[in-house]
Amino acid sequence: MEDGREQDLRSAGGDAFVTDAFDRPMQDLRISLLDRCNFRCPYCMPESEYTEDYQFLSKTARLSHDEIFRVASIAVGLGVTKLRITGGEPLLDKKVASLVGRLAELDGVDDLALTTNGVLLAPIAEALAKAGLQRVTISLDSLNEEVFRSMSGNRGDLDKVFTGIAAAEQAGLSPIKINVVVQRGVNDHTVLDVLDRFRGTGHIVRLIEFMDVGNRNDWTMEQVVPSKETLKMIQTRWPVRAVGKNYPGEVARRYEYLDGKGEVGFISSVTEPFCGSCSRARLSADGTLYTCLFATNGTDLRTALRDGSDDDAIANILTRVWLKRKDRYSELRKPGPVEKPLVNKVEMYRMGG
Ligand code: GTP
Ligand code: 5AD
Ligand code: SF4
Ligand code: SF4
Repeated sequence: MEDGREQDLRSAGGDAFVTDAFDRPMQDLRISLLDRCNFRCPYCMPESEYTEDYQFLSKTARLSHDEIFRVASIAVGLGVTKLRITGGEPLLDKKVASLVGRLAELDGVDDLALTTNGVLLAPIAEALAKAGLQRVTISLDSLNEEVFRSMSGNRGDLDKVFTGIAAAEQAGLSPIKINVVVQRGVNDHTVLDVLDRFRGTGHIVRLIEFMDVGNRNDWTMEQVVPSKETLKMIQTRWPVRAVGKNYPGEVARRYEYLDGKGEVGFISSVTEPFCGSCSRARLSADGTLYTCLFATNGTDLRTALRDGSDDDAIANILTRVWLKRKDRYSELRKPGPVEKPLVNKVEMYRMGG
């Protein structure tokens, strides 16, 4: 194996586990089920570009559930313990519950979660929970009708999202996390309303700094509201204090309300990067493996999945990729604007948030 790093394929409970060039384990696999979405959030899939006739991946280009399951089981054999199903919008896949059921059976998976915009969640929440999904994370950028509509590219329906959240709650898909991408001048004035709505419900709001993922969202530093600033704003209304991480590699910094009404998380990829503990691999819907959210290219797994290669051969590809991994994009870009912006980054809806 390259770099004489064979020793990094260690033994854990009978299974091998792999660490990268900075000693970071491959702990999470985020699986993008499909590249389509029923929203057109301007920071992700601006509707001017993703029009009616945009060519998304065809069914044959996408991995089948059998293929996804195979990659996941091989990754679990290499030490992955957390699986997250994402998209695009994963609930556009009508058979998502059956895939969840299979992934839930994998020995060694201690966290199985799904990220959704929530609109299609209500009718399927119970089935997902029964199949073995543990929890959901819902993207919800504002409670202000107008702001929400515009941040979803005029597609979102707040009532449906709330029905979805209620159904997830009923089904026990907790803790429910609510992701808010904060963009200056767009929804920063509505952040406190979101916190207010979810304080005391047990749901955890996480405020995400607007990131320079992909090439199509016209990102500028001016649009980023640093978490420090948001925290200060929150403190003026509800005192909070920092609390420790729930698990190693957690991306959110957690704060709890002193009045006992729960917690709020900050995901500060721009101003306080967390590459040092980044243990996330991403599998796109077309079977490409990415080792960083800001990657410009990845490793094709689909060919090996379809040419008769056995599991060991595929495990070998994963291992080689991970052993060589040196990604730390956000740390290198810190603290401000990118000096030489990468122009061919893969879009987030393709590789999976
Ligand atoms: P938990 O498992 O609940 O702790 O969630 P998580 O924070 O891993 O997952 P979630 O999918 O909710 O991530 C929230 C957001 O954090 C993503 O949509 C991204 O915006 C950002 N994020 C997650 N992982 C990474 C990462 O590896 N790098 C960067 N830069 N941002 C990330
Ligand atoms: N910056 C920060 N978060 C983003 N997301 C999508 N694009 C961006 C971006 N440019 C978030 C979504 C969702 C998650 C999957 O990723 O809002 O919560
Ligand atoms: Fe869809 Fe999520 Fe992208 Fe919005 S951020 S367009 S909901 S994939
Ligand atoms: Fe991980 Fe890349 Fe995000 Fe850093 S920028 S935390 S390496 S995904």
